[in-house]
Amino acid sequence: MLTADPATIRHLLQLEGHSATELTALAKRAAELNHEPDRGPGHGPLAGKTLANLFFEDSTRTRLSFTRAAQRMGMHVLDLYAKSSSVSKGETLLDTARNVHAMGVDAIVVRCTPSGGPALLADHLDCSIINAGDGKHEHPTQGLLDLMTLLEHFKVGQTITGDELHGKRIAIVGDIDSSRVARSNIHALTTLGAHVVLIGPPKLVPETFLEITKHLDPPVGSVEIAHDLDAVLADLDAIMMLRVQFERHERDIIGPDYADKFGLNQARAAQLKPTAPVLHPGPINRDFELASAVADDPKRSLIMQQVSNGVVVRMAVLEKLLA
Ligand code: CP
Repeated sequence: MLTADPATIRHLLQLEGHSATELTALAKRAAELNHEPDRGPGHGPLAGKTLANLFFEDSTRTRLSFTRAAQRMGMHVLDLYAKSSSVSKGETLLDTARNVHAMGVDAIVVRCTPSGGPALLADHLDCSIINAGDGKHEHPTQGLLDLMTLLEHFKVGQTITGDELHGKRIAIVGDIDSSRVARSNIHALTTLGAHVVLIGPPKLVPETFLEITKHLDPPVGSVEIAHDLDAVLADLDAIMMLRVQFERHERDIIGPDYADKFGLNQARAAQLKPTAPVLHPGPINRDFELASAVADDPKRSLIMQQVSNGVVVRMAVLEKLLA
């Protein structure tokens, strides 16, 4: 993972264990990169370096924004689509990555179903490995772009300080157990002092999530679990809705009245503080976990801002690992 010693920073495998200083520095750098011009193809601080995208699960936002970020840094980009690759003939994740690495790449972005797949590659390959989502473990660049979006939303002056989330109550709602996005966000948000409220049906929000901040010394933020969304709405400073991941579990585990109990509709959005933004990592199950009227409300929704910030956050990560 990214470590405190700049000489050893090589991979981004997770947000767990990163300090508030490291997380804030990446968000601040991403915000600065927002103001830097696109120098055009082949020009940028990482010109001559090559990034390979290895996506063994589908993606729209993460894969394209890594490509866009790498292009803006001047890099060449190789894309492997697992469905049309020799993975379909039984080649392993590690063998696939070894072969891509042998073609001469400086960094591999990997999304895969096994938790720990990126760490396996980091142990065996002599290039930077960036986790683009591994099983139910983490999705660190999503956590970073969500963090940047919230820091920018709550910042008081012109620049992010890192204190913006201290004491803020931020809800993550829905299919928490399946969500690598939730895990990365819990680590980042609590490290920066937020109180995270995990909301959903008991089967989707296991009690084990309460132990996730035990490593923090001192524990600046906290995690609590709630099962009644309506009871907490008025106290929230921000709300992040998650996609129900129907592909990762049986449909009936969520219960027959999931959308009635946990969907963010217009009536529920009206209970939020006027300043409380709505986030969603995408893709959205429209009018199921999130009403279209709320998702598309420019006064409330930061969803497109999350996507835009995804490019500059990934530029900041590439710069940190490769420059
Ligand atoms: N948020 C996210 O990871 O989206 P994609 O699956 O489209 O990459």
